[in-house]
Amino acid sequence: MRKTIKDILKEAPGQKVDVKGWVRTRRGNKNVQFVALNDGSTINNLQIVFDLSKFSEEDLKPITTGSSIHVEGELVASQGSGQNVEVQAEKLEVYGTSPADYPLQKKGHSMEFLREKAHLRPRTNTFGAVLRIRHALAYAVHKFFNDRGFYYFHTPLITASDCEGAGAQFQVTTMPLNDLPKTEDGNIDYSKDFFGKMASLTVSGQLEGELGATALGLIYTFGPTFRAENSNTPRHLSEFWMIEPEMAFYEIDDNMNLAEEFIKYCVKYALDNCYDDIKFLNDHFDPELIDRLKFVIDNDFVRLSYGEGIEILEKSGKKFEFPVHWGVDLASEHERYLVEEHFKKPVILTDYPKEIKAFYMKLNDDGKTVRAMDVLFPKIGEIIGGSQREENYDKLMSRVKEMGLEGMDWYLDTRKYGTVPHSGFGLGFERLVLFVTGMQNIRDVIPFPRYPKACEY
Ligand code: 4AD
Repeated sequence: MRKTIKDILKEAPGQKVDVKGWVRTRRGNKNVQFVALNDGSTINNLQIVFDLSKFSEEDLKPITTGSSIHVEGELVASQGSGQNVEVQAEKLEVYGTSPADYPLQKKGHSMEFLREKAHLRPRTNTFGAVLRIRHALAYAVHKFFNDRGFYYFHTPLITASDCEGAGAQFQVTTMPLNDLPKTEDGNIDYSKDFFGKMASLTVSGQLEGELGATALGLIYTFGPTFRAENSNTPRHLSEFWMIEPEMAFYEIDDNMNLAEEFIKYCVKYALDNCYDDIKFLNDHFDPELIDRLKFVIDNDFVRLSYGEGIEILEKSGKKFEFPVHWGVDLASEHERYLVEEHFKKPVILTDYPKEIKAFYMKLNDDGKTVRAMDVLFPKIGEIIGGSQREENYDKLMSRVKEMGLEGMDWYLDTRKYGTVPHSGFGLGFERLVLFVTGMQNIRDVIPFPRYPKACEY
């Protein structure tokens, strides 16, 4: 079986090897040619040395940037700097040539250019690094929860409920859009649609997750979610992956402790397991990246209430674009001021006004605020949103009525039969990947980003 370049680079010299990959560069002179080969297993290339007494110019002609080759040869100690071993080529097979119009010829393409070539960008060093880190973080998520006795609970992607109540859902229908069936009073007749009712793509698996937690105790979801907000920011996607743990018998403090432990675990896992990739991103784009990751692991997050946060913002003397006072939904500039300028640490804000939060959050005794918690991160802003849930049937029912929500009996049943205090949160997976990679735009941490007016592939 073929060994990956990642493994070959760890081998001792003096053995035959068989390598396959894509050519990054070829350079050299009349006597010897050096090819940097990469197979995606690692950021590091394997150097292949072609001695021109064994190979002709003609043999090597198809070896251009982007071409794919198979080389057999001997692993030897490398004379050059930058690698311990290299391969002295003995046999060459060319799988596929790569003509001169291969778009990834030179180093240092802009992120915007690469986004237009998203079908090829995983072959660049930068995206290879990001995608390997993304994989490691996904694995860390499962490992973290599995090791703590949580069950992976699959919630539906097509749903008839709007968890966050923000009305930012993509509809799912098989009805002909140019000839919609109508009811007698002129509304769309959803009884004729595929599911016999209006259906959408989910914005969150939380409500169904609560059904899982109030049966299995500790669950988490990890799946795609969809939001049809017209948000063209470096922090928003229309399709993103969310991790939503939900815990029976957890109150807000347990929830905050778990969120903090969870993020620290994931960041540490990436540092321990993807150091080469993170170092590459640190050295090429963001010289403070590794320090920032270590800082998050080593420091306690600051915990304070929304009200205290507002007071700090009001007293800051800063001119914010969006004015700040008790009751406003915090904008990214406010969140980042607290984290990056005031505390210089990740912050967990709790007890938000009930008007700006979702209907399911537990009402505090003041009747004004809810037991919400948002985790705010440097460079990112909100990375986690969560809360203790309202477990009292009557209070929840009155919130459901206030919001005019319908068809929620199944959800209310969890409060009717054996209700328990419970809590949970949602971590936007791409925001975590953004933080760990130090990339500037969330569109560059998912292979095929979806955002307004962009749905390629
Ligand atoms: O704060 P949100 O909307 O919370 C929920 O959906 C809850 N149901 C979670 C829960 O309690 N189980 O979203 C949670 C997180 C945000 O903190 C953010 O990291 C991410 O999801 N997020 C987005 N990420 C990328 N693009 C978007 N458009 C996002 N919207 C939210």
